Amino acid sequence: MEGSEGSQPVGLKFEGPRAPSENEWPLVINFLTKSLRPGNKWSMLDEYPTSLARSQAHNMRVIIEDGNVIAHAVFKPIILKTPMGVFKVAAIGSVVTADDYRNQGHSTRIIESCLHAARQADCDFAILWTDLFDFYRRLGFELAGGEVSIAIDRDVSTSTAFTFNDSNRVAADAILRVFNQHSVASHRTLEDVRAMLAIPNTRVSTAWDQTGKLVAYAVEGKGADLDGYIHEWGGSNEALLSLLTHMRKLQKRDLRLMAPAHAQNLIATLKATGCAEHRGYLGMIKILKTDSIFAKVHRFAKSQGINDLILTESFTGDRAPVKFEFGRGSSRYSTDSETDLLRLVFGPEKPSTQHKFDGPTADALDKVLPLRLWIWGWDSV
Ligand SMILES: CC(C)(COP(=O)(O)OP(=O)(O)OC[C@H]1O[C@@H](n2cnc3c(N)ncnc32)[C@H](O)[C@@H]1OP(=O)(O)O)[C@@H](O)C(=O)NCCC(=O)NCCS
Repeated sequence: MEGSEGSQPVGLKFEGPRAPSENEWPLVINFLTKSLRPGNKWSMLDEYPTSLARSQAHNMRVIIEDGNVIAHAVFKPIILKTPMGVFKVAAIGSVVTADDYRNQGHSTRIIESCLHAARQADCDFAILWTDLFDFYRRLGFELAGGEVSIAIDRDVSTSTAFTFNDSNRVAADAILRVFNQHSVASHRTLEDVRAMLAIPNTRVSTAWDQTGKLVAYAVEGKGADLDGYIHEWGGSNEALLSLLTHMRKLQKRDLRLMAPAHAQNLIATLKATGCAEHRGYLGMIKILKTDSIFAKVHRFAKSQGINDLILTESFTGDRAPVKFEFGRGSSRYSTDSETDLLRLVFGPEKPSTQHKFDGPTADALDKVLPLRLWIWGWDSV
């Protein structure tokens, strides 16, 4: 970058990207609140208590000019339990450059720094939620993974077996117990759940059985986002459907439930009652550790009795990947496109609908992929 005559070259006056120091952390929160939530009653820390906490400063990246923060992004490492094994995911968020400093490459450098740190921290892949698709495509992200949203625009249960409570003052351990029953869920502590229950504009409703046990919960709204969306839920289908019916009556409006595609029973039941579904992408994803993901896919394939699955990456002499190979036995398919690989691994479509495979290969790949991935709303950054 060239400076105009007599001024410093622009590149020299900026510090970073780097993690903010403990002392700088309040400046970062102020910058984010001013830039991303002007006029709101709460701070960005209230809205993202787990990713923007002071203890997470080492995962933040800032660019500083004359003591002022002018650009920021954070990555939150999430430990995700799935049927295919445990994945470490870097969720990237709060990406912003101050108005007067845009289009100078600051966010690009900050995100690259987050990705570098996420790789160093052994994250398997990075994910983010945005509508700036082309901006993130330049950085190697692509839309992938599946998300089903279902209109809750009618009664979806007639059960009278449960009682309901509509308060965020609910025992965090009861919520965590139900949350941990999900087949795909992040590692959360009681402290995390307590912090999430306090996020502004988060409305939590719970269903209780006749013995006084919490059997389902659902969360609608989160800070400035997700108004009208139930982005977190858990519990038996029967209790949850009853709770959804209750919440719609309580709020006197239709709601939308966000669900992973693998919640097949719930989705099928809601569709059978006439609720419309919409299928979209989970987010924008970038693979960071191909070998680690491939090892988990292979291990899972073996557990399913598939011992000859092929999923490999070949390199040229200078370690630049030339192609990815996938298939089964002697049926090999190859691509040099990271997007092809991303969609094969994360979907949302089945492998057999993406490529023309022979029968046994299609069966094997469809049994294993796409991997069951879901990030619950409270974990999104
Ligand atoms: C989106 C946002 C973060 C981008 O920040 P930025 O620092 O301007 O980003 P960059 O400069 O790295 O890249 C932006 C553009 O500048 C261009 N650019 C990159 N490096 C450049 C450089 N050295 N010189 C000039 N332009 C450059 C890029 O090509 C890109 O152009 P595009 O419109 O074709 O994508 C910023 O506009 C912003 O804060 N928006 C409001 C908050 C927001 O929407 N955040 C994203 C939430 S997911």
